[in-house]
Amino acid sequence: MGMTISRNRFPRGFIIRSITLVILLLVIFQSYLSYIQSQSSLRFWSSPATSNPNAKYLGTNNDELTLFPPTRDLERFCSSYPKRPTKKHHILISNKAKEDGPLKIFYWKQRALTQRVDWHKESETMCPIPMELQAFFDHYRKTKINDPSVFWKTGYAPCFFWKTWDNQMEDRPGSCTSREYGTLDYIFSTNYTDFVNADIILVGYVFTMDIDEAPYFDQMLLPPRLAHQSWALVFFDESIGFYPYVAMPAFLNQFDITIGSPPQLMDVPNPSYPITEKKALELANIEPTHPFDKTPEHYIAFMVSNCYARNDRMTLINKLVKTAGAHSYGECSHNKEMPEELKGRETGNWQYKKQKVLASYPFGLAAENSNCLGYITEKIYDVYAAGSIPIYMGAPDIADFVPEGSFIDARSFKNYDELIHYMKTVDREPFYRWKDIVKKDPTKFCKKCLYAGPTPWCSIMDNVHFV
Ligand SMILES: *[C@@H]1O[C@H](CO)[C@@H](O)[C@H](O)[C@H]1NC(C)=O
Repeated sequence: MGMTISRNRFPRGFIIRSITLVILLLVIFQSYLSYIQSQSSLRFWSSPATSNPNAKYLGTNNDELTLFPPTRDLERFCSSYPKRPTKKHHILISNKAKEDGPLKIFYWKQRALTQRVDWHKESETMCPIPMELQAFFDHYRKTKINDPSVFWKTGYAPCFFWKTWDNQMEDRPGSCTSREYGTLDYIFSTNYTDFVNADIILVGYVFTMDIDEAPYFDQMLLPPRLAHQSWALVFFDESIGFYPYVAMPAFLNQFDITIGSPPQLMDVPNPSYPITEKKALELANIEPTHPFDKTPEHYIAFMVSNCYARNDRMTLINKLVKTAGAHSYGECSHNKEMPEELKGRETGNWQYKKQKVLASYPFGLAAENSNCLGYITEKIYDVYAAGSIPIYMGAPDIADFVPEGSFIDARSFKNYDELIHYMKTVDREPFYRWKDIVKKDPTKFCKKCLYAGPTPWCSIMDNVHFV
């Protein structure tokens, strides 16, 4: 029955005519495309619509960073950062500001992860903004919210912005010791009403600024630069691999001082994982957990949760799981549950659990999410803390930050089969010899150990110079 109906609905002639028409249209579209491409393939496919084909170019732009995003060859970008030309880094503040009382630090935080914000609700409580920030808030609304039904009256922005990520206002006084002036007082504020009178703008959250075209960060998401203000950047815990623009001179040169890591880029290095002599001694005193003369059933384990690394970490993880019997406790290539006694909340923090789990294996994978100079997190130190030998993937300069001969660099092998063969056959004892040296002299832990500095705001205050 159904067949008959449909045959009546669409007579054969109609179907044939439709197919012919579609084919004809496709052929015409195809020839149109090839015609345009033959005119100028470059112009059609890659030039911005605004470029004038008749324009004369008075000079050649050789700035590779202007023309190509650093992500085009991230590995290369991350293994030799562009140089920042300015050499003098301090914060010049007028003596007048000193007479006015504590220095005012405004925290330009920009709440990240705002996708889940109910902007209609937040737009019901508005706070006054200075005119200097009108352009910023207009731009923020257009690019980050992009909903015409969210409307803010000129001169106001949702009070939501006044708070930091944990929904708190941060308005607190403090004091720091400065080498030049002794005790210096400051007031730290997130209240935009205080913006214009602030002496120092501390730029913190840069995680929302990336864009696809040069200069690869959205300048309009930075505040306007007022003549009496100094700028400080604080950046650590995150990798240049995910925020490459932070390493670009076009970004860094805007700051009077930069604080954080990687140390290559920062005026005041502040490591993600600071080493202390006490810490070095602690790690040296941890005994190897797996006997050297016993063949382990499983050689290596790891616990990795970001499965979108910007290096070869996932390939290595999959290879280790598929061909080396590795145990993966984290989300990526997960194949092993935590032991019962470590599952509860009361058994310590995540890092402690990780160390406990890794301790059953002679090797532990310490793979960062990108291979960038100076990007060194807790990962490799956690493997030392477990008493295992790190198989490392990450910072090309890792050897400066850990004991000599204490780890295996996954990238020094022709392929991962060779790495796995090496792991299974190498004498493990020599990887622990550094411990005797460090026990005698903890300063021998690494060539360029990064020690913990003062808090970011005290690093700023320490570099203030009154003129
Ligand atoms: C911000 O500072 C102004 C002026 O000091 C004050 O009146 C206002 O209540 C503050 N805003 C918030 C949200 O605390």
